[in-house]
Amino acid sequence: LSGLRSPSLPWKQLSDLASILSCWIQSTSAQDDPVRIVPIPPYGTVGSNVLLTILGFTEKGSTYTWYRKTSEVSNEIASYEFDTRVQTPEDSREKILPDGALLIPNLSLSDASIYILHITIYKVGVAVYEVITQLRVYEKLARPNITANSIKVRENESLVFTCSTENERANIVWFFNNQPLPLTERTDTSENNQTLTIKSVRREDAGIYQCEAWNPIDAKRSNPFSLMPDDNTKKGSSLSTGAIIGIVIGELVGIVLIGALIYFLFIRKTGR
Ligand SMILES: *[C@@H]1O[C@H](CO)[C@@H](O)[C@H](O)[C@H]1NC(C)=O
Ligand SMILES: *[C@@H]1O[C@H](CO)[C@@H](O)[C@H](O)[C@H]1NC(C)=O
Repeated sequence: LSGLRSPSLPWKQLSDLASILSCWIQSTSAQDDPVRIVPIPPYGTVGSNVLLTILGFTEKGSTYTWYRKTSEVSNEIASYEFDTRVQTPEDSREKILPDGALLIPNLSLSDASIYILHITIYKVGVAVYEVITQLRVYEKLARPNITANSIKVRENESLVFTCSTENERANIVWFFNNQPLPLTERTDTSENNQTLTIKSVRREDAGIYQCEAWNPIDAKRSNPFSLMPDDNTKKGSSLSTGAIIGIVIGELVGIVLIGALIYFLFIRKTGR
């Protein structure tokens, strides 16, 4: 065992032995102020950086070794010798800073994982602290798209809204006239909230509907979808297309006549 205590042993070998001798691994939960890893920012964003910082560690670590998922050697990201200030491997995407923090640049969704840090201290023998954290990574969201099986209220029939989003893991919430849609016995949502069913539509359901996709780092609301009131409840709604065109033409003729009147009464007068 005395050989083990020599800091000159190759790090990997030492690390493996230290891991095997679990009695040497000090559980952080036994401490008053536990050593912990805090990601900054708290949630990773695809394409951005995250820094896994170490809090509550007051001693001087000799070697910092970071792992992803499990602390098997094959999952080692990199290790850093405090004395020599050398990171192994030197060219890894992730960088270990002199205080042991791990910088992960240009995050992708696959970086979301458990991260494990082993801090080795040579003092009276070798002590290895193990600290674990979970990193969550989210993507910026695209605007969701809202569609429905009808654009107007059809009383007593059921209405189905669909919210489509390209972001698989996004949560979805519904809005009615800019307020969170109250769920009643007439409304039903699918498991992932992507469809909203109004089972028996009433006149008062007419209004503006929107869906919103959100995750802890972003939120995007769809364009407004306008559910029109039922035609039969409005006066004048039974006008045929021909009648509407007639009215429009009539109005245009009226405007032209008024224009001509103004011309004759005013402009010609002043021109004289
Ligand atoms: C960031 O990562 C993506 C793949 O996840 C890659 O396509 C892109 O080139 C990287 N950007 C930089 C600046 O390294
Ligand atoms: C809808 O149902 C209510 C109550 O059952 C009824 O009074 C009303 O006439 C129905 N409306 C239509 C358009 O069918």
